[in-house]
Amino acid sequence: MENYTICNCMNVSYFDVEDVLHQSESFSDVEKAFEKVQAVTQCSTGCGGCHDKILDAISEIMSK
Ligand code: FES
Repeated sequence: MENYTICNCMNVSYFDVEDVLHQSESFSDVEKAFEKVQAVTQCSTGCGGCHDKILDAISEIMSK
């Protein structure tokens, strides 16, 4: 699939999120995964407008 920017404020892409998830232990839920992704990439620490998009991407990656 095509890469795209999920968080414009922090310049975090779909592939960046995927990298974090693939390098981490498996997560029990999307919120836990989100916390990890945010800690590594700083995504959703600016305007916060990307929050739902990031959760959607995480759900999609976790269900692959
Ligand atoms: S677009 Fe992600 S914090 Fe603004």
